[in-house]
Amino acid sequence: MTDTTHDAESNADRSDDPGDFVVTPYAVSGDVDYEKLLERFGADPLTDEQIDRFPDHPMLRRRTFYAGRDVDDYLDAAEAGDPHAVVTGRGPSGPMHLGHVLPLYLAKRFQAATGATVYLPLSDDEKFLAKGQSFAEVGEHARENLRDVLAVGFDPERTRIVVDTADADVVYPVAVRLAKHLTPATVEAVYGETDTVGLQFYPAVQAAHLLLPQLVEGRQPTLVPIAVDQDPHVRVCRDVAAKEALPVAKPGALLGRFLPGLAGPGKMSSSGDAPSIELTDDPGTVAETIRNHAYTGGRASLEAHREKGGDPTVDVPFQYLRFFFEPDDDRLAELAREYRAGALLSGDLKEIAIERIAEFLAEHQRRRDELGDLATELEPYRLTTDERERALESAGVPRIP
Ligand code: TRP
Repeated sequence: MTDTTHDAESNADRSDDPGDFVVTPYAVSGDVDYEKLLERFGADPLTDEQIDRFPDHPMLRRRTFYAGRDVDDYLDAAEAGDPHAVVTGRGPSGPMHLGHVLPLYLAKRFQAATGATVYLPLSDDEKFLAKGQSFAEVGEHARENLRDVLAVGFDPERTRIVVDTADADVVYPVAVRLAKHLTPATVEAVYGETDTVGLQFYPAVQAAHLLLPQLVEGRQPTLVPIAVDQDPHVRVCRDVAAKEALPVAKPGALLGRFLPGLAGPGKMSSSGDAPSIELTDDPGTVAETIRNHAYTGGRASLEAHREKGGDPTVDVPFQYLRFFFEPDDDRLAELAREYRAGALLSGDLKEIAIERIAEFLAEHQRRRDELGDLATELEPYRLTTDERERALESAGVPRIP
């Protein structure tokens, strides 16, 4: 039995305990204990030294991304100026919200700072299988999501965007090769029960994503920045990659916390009851959504708040500022202090978050609106014929004919 299987089985056991939490790529529920999760998954908290070695970014300084696997190999290569790659993807099941762009903007920062090659797969196959949507629906989301991915502003020289159904000539053979080592027992242990054999196969596809940069560009440390629920995919990939004699190193992971939903602690979700802030929301909608729906750490009455102060650790507007949207550490500390002292009210904090998020979205949307025809915009980011050949050759799959 692999340790992947073992970890995940203990995960499945515990999910029966009342009051406990579940985290798999297909289900997140309960009150997530991020430290316990690392024990279950077998990942390591980031050390201060590792955080110092990464390009400076608020999402690392504040431990929005808080854990990893094999992070040092990636850092060594990035520091030495050796080839290094980042893979982070998107499952196009609906419009993208704020939580979805955190890994993308982090990947962009890494690329700008150390020249990382970035691969961005879109798993339309996965969402067709998992979400009860038609291919027409998933395709429409994929087209919209691609605009958001393009709007982040990656360097086309060093970035490849892959869509599973559109780039199946490369993705499928690699996935098949990896699937040879993926047993139904491992899949079930890691992801829980799957309804169909389609989803049972999908982990092989995501494993293929994580190896693609190395199959195209040669062996190099690869880092996968993702929300922690996607870590099982990384574990499966590491496990199966070692079993096939492929010219690749095991990919490492950089694991992020979930941006809380507006209704309070937990994962921001597009499918739950509480609304989420979408990347295409206009400033009025952002303001209205936060004013009406954001959970706060304020007191029941103004008097009590002035006297006892608020709690920034559960206050969603404050947490949004802390996760990403207020880059200035001093300013953030000052807000926390004033909130705790009761000088700053929940309503004030909401308005500050609204302003910062609206600023961020204005920039994102400006770049999104400037995009022209999707196929034309995507062209410089697609795998070239040469790159496709190299990937298949590295994977040991000759083309027919
Ligand atoms: N499975 C991911 C999701 O549901 C999307 C995804 C596909 C991905 N390939 C990836 C994420 C590779 C990170 C790396 O959100």
